[in-house]
Amino acid sequence: MVGRWTGRGSRGASPSRRGRARILRTQHQSSVRARTLSHSSNSTSSASAILRIVADRSEGERLAADEIESLLKAKPDAALGLATGGTMTGLYDELSRRHAAGRVSFARAKGFNLDEYLGLAPADPRSFAAYMRASLLERVDFAPGAARLPRGDAPDAGAESKGWEEAIAAAGGIDLQLLGIGRNGHIGFNEPGSARDSRTRVVELDDTTRADAAAGFGSLELVPRQAITAGVATILDSRRILLLAFGRSKASIVRRMLRGPVGPECPASWLQGIGHALVVVDREAAAEL
Ligand code: PGA
Repeated sequence: MVGRWTGRGSRGASPSRRGRARILRTQHQSSVRARTLSHSSNSTSSASAILRIVADRSEGERLAADEIESLLKAKPDAALGLATGGTMTGLYDELSRRHAAGRVSFARAKGFNLDEYLGLAPADPRSFAAYMRASLLERVDFAPGAARLPRGDAPDAGAESKGWEEAIAAAGGIDLQLLGIGRNGHIGFNEPGSARDSRTRVVELDDTTRADAAAGFGSLELVPRQAITAGVATILDSRRILLLAFGRSKASIVRRMLRGPVGPECPASWLQGIGHALVVVDREAAAEL
């Protein structure tokens, strides 16, 4: 099953410039409010994402699993916004272990994945649907059909996108949205240039995203050029957002997300103004803060 572990693709982060970086002095499990340095912000601005720096990715995965476990205990029929990528695999392992131990059940929950490559059927081993089956869905107890992804092979991708928004609304909205971050700042497949008010739609994939995904597809030419993704607004409408970023390769984009200007050039930067967002990074990913 190629493609599952190679990352969702997005290179593009420039080498670090630690000389200019402001390293947070953090303690184990420290929580600090992520300051918003956008010129449009001011001291009375109401909300900003919470940043939590953990020692390593397994601590971050446990923290994220704790959030999901608590949510499902409080609200067994919660709607979970699910994500793919190397960042999520350890979290899904942890959730699967907790399920096997009888700690958490997804039996009444719903799942809505962020995105899927256009043109790939769910049975395609390179699809995100295949990743989700192997990583989580076949290991826990979602009811059949309760955890869904946009159909990459939908005959009418526009109708699929519209239907996706309607399905989320019919479920009462997303209770908890999991996010990774691409090294170009994408969330879902909202590539640089994505608007704050964007909704589920077909998008063109960045060259860098496709180049990074090439290994999983065998060659660049085989990487789909388009995807269906939940929009920035679709994501930010969620009642709770949990973004995870681990490893040194994410340090530069984590800094841009939290300290850079807010805008479409780094779609993840929209989280700066979202008080119900928790950004969990390990020390390596926090290295340039
Ligand atoms: P990754 O992808 O977890 O494979 O780094 C993250 C993303 O592109 O959202």
